[in-house]
Amino acid sequence: MTHAPQHSIQVVAHRGASEDAPEHTLAAYRKAIEDGADALECDVRLTADGHLVCVHDRRVNRTSNGRGAVSALELADLAALDFGSWKTREAWRGRDEEPDWEHRPEDPADTSVLTLERLLELVSDAGRRVELAIETKHPTRWAGQVEERLLMLLKRFGLDAPATAAESPVRIMSFSARSLHRVRAAAPTLPTVCLMQFVSPRLRDGRLPAGVRIAGPSIRIVRNHPVLVERLKEAGHQVHVWTVNEPEDVDLCVRLGVDAIITNRPGAVLHRLGR
Ligand code: G3P
Ligand code: CA
Repeated sequence: MTHAPQHSIQVVAHRGASEDAPEHTLAAYRKAIEDGADALECDVRLTADGHLVCVHDRRVNRTSNGRGAVSALELADLAALDFGSWKTREAWRGRDEEPDWEHRPEDPADTSVLTLERLLELVSDAGRRVELAIETKHPTRWAGQVEERLLMLLKRFGLDAPATAAESPVRIMSFSARSLHRVRAAAPTLPTVCLMQFVSPRLRDGRLPAGVRIAGPSIRIVRNHPVLVERLKEAGHQVHVWTVNEPEDVDLCVRLGVDAIITNRPGAVLHRLGR
């Protein structure tokens, strides 16, 4: 059964189509674009030699065949690792029969470390508008370098200074208010998203840090405190919810009128929305 919302909800592929393919790989992002996702979400971290790469965890241990912190490794070290086979092992876990390999990437280039630059190229070549929601991970450790490198890279793609936030295909997200502040100070028209995993006094009042127009609460917050979505909307903010994978949570987001659903299953969510 599909539920067509009265307003349009953006469907954002969280780390790519990360249920079907290994997160943060070209394979996952290509699949998300194929599935029709409106936008792609990625986490960015800085390598020891100053490259922005799309990796969620501080260390590469979970999602690659290597070990160590991203910040201690150079891009060439990361490029030698396989960021795909962990997903294959995960798919096998607890199964007697071979899992469905339909989306198993064959080309090693599809599961090597993904730089933000390569992801920006993919989006530029998509042949349709695909937005990018970039999350700065633990930016405080680098005292502004993550944001500085990020804005330099966006500038190269002509994406750092949109005429208005509404027309920007890129937005910057963070749990760190300081990181969002740095971005706003250097690129005032670039939209920013304040991510939230706890109900703070600020959130209870529907307030966001100065200049931030988009709230990013977790689905757990939205399930437990749906009134907060109403409050944020009344205050004129957009609401982008993560990570929404279950059909009943999609339906809840539709009922509450959220603006974006961030999901590991963009194809299934689009189907649920009747698109
Ligand atoms: O899209 C926001 C969401 O990705 C934040 O949590 O841990 O998946 O980066 P995490
Ligand atoms: Ca993220």
